[in-house]
Amino acid sequence: MEKYIIKGGHKLQGEIEISGAKNAAVAIIPAALMVDGICRIENVPSISDTQMLLSILTHMGAKVRPLSRTTVEIDCRNVHPADAPFDLTRKIRASYYLIGAMLGRFGQAKTTMPGGCNFGVRPIDQHIKGMCAMGAQMEVSGGFVYGTTPSGRLRGAYIYLDKVSVGATMNIMIAASLAAGRTVIENAAREPHIVDLANFLNSMGADVRGAGTDTIKVNGVSRLHGGSYSIIPDQIEAGTYMAAVSAAGGELTIKNVIPKHLECISAKLREMGVEIEDGEDFLVVRRENPLLRTNVKTLPYPGFPTDMQPQITATLCLAEGTSVVTEGVWDDRYKFVNELRKMGAQIQVDGKVAVVEGVKNLTGAVVAACDLRAGAAVVIAGLCAQGTTEIEDIHYIERGYEDFVQKLRSAGADIVCVAEPDEPAQGDDSIPAAG
Ligand code: UD1
Repeated sequence: MEKYIIKGGHKLQGEIEISGAKNAAVAIIPAALMVDGICRIENVPSISDTQMLLSILTHMGAKVRPLSRTTVEIDCRNVHPADAPFDLTRKIRASYYLIGAMLGRFGQAKTTMPGGCNFGVRPIDQHIKGMCAMGAQMEVSGGFVYGTTPSGRLRGAYIYLDKVSVGATMNIMIAASLAAGRTVIENAAREPHIVDLANFLNSMGADVRGAGTDTIKVNGVSRLHGGSYSIIPDQIEAGTYMAAVSAAGGELTIKNVIPKHLECISAKLREMGVEIEDGEDFLVVRRENPLLRTNVKTLPYPGFPTDMQPQITATLCLAEGTSVVTEGVWDDRYKFVNELRKMGAQIQVDGKVAVVEGVKNLTGAVVAACDLRAGAAVVIAGLCAQGTTEIEDIHYIERGYEDFVQKLRSAGADIVCVAEPDEPAQGDDSIPAAG
């Protein structure tokens, strides 16, 4: 068991380099299962979620060869769909992409229901609807998802998503790549990682068009060949450091970003009085004056990302006046508010709305990371707080942020990761799914 200890009150100064996008990597690695050849994937973030997915593929017979800390070669020519390690798949939400990949490549799938419900009910009905439209017979029972195709191959279909879902859009794109005929996904999600997955699949020989718009057309091909691909920089990791310097003050150059992907975040921070200069592949984020209040509503891309809601809420705790945050994607994504309250934050939550009364100072406290982005939010609060903040349950944070402590330290933060003695076993070693 490890925890972070932060001594707050230091401005952030310097440069931080952004890693590969987690939410792209967690789809691209399972999609490698579709490829009948060797995939070389670069800019893979070195985080526990990607490591877990690589070990799931290894259990299924893939040869996984790390070429460096962030480049990996995956050879799925001899994988066996029956060999998915269920003790691992149930721990990671993104294992739902194995459904599309297995059905696409083998015409059959069996995996666990992705567990965990850290921010409300997280259904996969749209994933299942897509697979059924492509001719699969799907069944969910006993905590497992089963899929079969009578002919051994999915067929193209017209699929209108009832809800804009990142996961369902990507899962259907993966499965449809090897289906017979054309699949059209209407009301598709448009996040940058959807375009990245399409580019990955296309570089392996797929024919996916329109990713980044709300209509995606996939012309199924009979085989995906190997190739090389480099994952885009992480929009949410960059946004987290933008929020951190906005809250703590100072000036950070955030390198290896696609500024276009960050416009939804930059626009909000500018409203809050933060200065942001856009470079070709970097941003300079500076905050010298007091933070101003604003309102935020999370929406599918290009709206303000739900995965930045906890971090912006933490930042707004220190803005002058009252801000209103509305969570437009998830039902219950405010559990971290209790942790911020322990640090002196004034936040009232009513359903999907949080009203944040700005305070002059936060104070250090012992708090927990409730999930990945909630963990980032309490780190941001700790960086600004007077005194010492201890953050427990940091395994959530390490699922999604590469070298979080080292990157913050390099920018002048006083944060360390320390080991704490293990608690006696409680009889349940499961890690709730995150992501
Ligand atoms: C992914 C990300 C998560 C992010 C979310 C929204 C991963 C592993 N996770 O999650 O970090 O917060 O996108 O950007 O990449 N919905 C349904 N039925 C479905 C699927 C979703 O009703 O079959 C609903 C959900 O309850 C939610 C909304 O659609 O209200 C968006 O969910 P979705 O975009 O699918 O999120 P995930 O793919 O699970």
